[in-house]
Amino acid sequence: MVPIQKIMREIKLSEAVVHLFKALEKENNDVKDFLMKKFQGQPVSTKIEEKAFDYFISHSVIFAATVANRGSSVTTEFLYDGLQSPLPMDRYFLEAKAGRAAKDRLIVIEKKLPKIIEEYNNKGNVLIGNIGSGPGRDIIDVLSRYSGTSNIKAVNIDKDGKALDRGRMMATKKGVDCLIEFVEGDFLRYKPTKKFDIILLVGILCPLEIKTCVTILKMAKKLLKEGGCLIASNASKKMLKEDPFTCYVMEWGGNWKLVYKDVEEIKQIYKEAGYIWKGCFSDSYGFHIMGMGTSFSKI
Ligand SMILES: C[S@@+](CC[C@H](N)C(=O)[O-])C[C@H]1O[C@@H](n2cnc3c(N)ncnc32)[C@H](O)[C@@H]1O
Repeated sequence: MVPIQKIMREIKLSEAVVHLFKALEKENNDVKDFLMKKFQGQPVSTKIEEKAFDYFISHSVIFAATVANRGSSVTTEFLYDGLQSPLPMDRYFLEAKAGRAAKDRLIVIEKKLPKIIEEYNNKGNVLIGNIGSGPGRDIIDVLSRYSGTSNIKAVNIDKDGKALDRGRMMATKKGVDCLIEFVEGDFLRYKPTKKFDIILLVGILCPLEIKTCVTILKMAKKLLKEGGCLIASNASKKMLKEDPFTCYVMEWGGNWKLVYKDVEEIKQIYKEAGYIWKGCFSDSYGFHIMGMGTSFSKI
């Protein structure tokens, strides 16, 4: 058994990890020891690893959902909405800096988006494309603040029909269902009837290598009006530096492997994909960088 005090001395652990270890110490000390050893790169037996994995699946809704639906909005929705009575593992994911930063990303995007909408609003109708939207909570929340205005509309596009069903319900509840179209399908094959003024790409590029991000941004450019704005989020290197434990747990068990990028790399992606860089903003932890770029036809 590895005592928590020793662990804390050896590596800088967040309060959330300490809470988790204290809870695991009471519930299943083998799992706690496994987590610590694996995180520190010490050898662990396959038997213990399987035991820990089974424990995680049966004791964490967030972990089990992530394992079953890698990269889906089920995980992010839990982080945005929380859980009523979370068990220790889930409390960890909700309390950890990386978990909080995901929710903060949503808040900061919902704050920034109206300012960008205003830039396009004076030109008449504004059409927003939310690519890989999940339910599209961000767009639903923002459009609900423009009650009575029908010149701002959006299309939520996702391959996950269940996420879109959830989005339709949320939109109806907030009275904005008439302003949002929900399209089920692969965004790489999406053929819009009208091009977008603004495109949101949130939680899509994070696991992708730079080259693939360039390809996706080039594809998105075909859906964007000339002069339109693309906002794309990326996980930052700061996330890995400041919350390595959550990054490690998600990568180990959830196969949630991210490619952490800095501003210069994100700028480069926009440039190579043919956008004019408009700047960026981030959540208050600096764990997600939202790049902004404008499309132009001749490059
Ligand atoms: C991590 S979730 C993010 C959801 C939402 N944008 C948010 O910020 O919470 C990623 C979403 O992208 C969707 N997605 C990934 N690749 C896609 C593709 N090629 N076509 C359509 N949807 C895709 C997934 O189904 C999932 O809902």
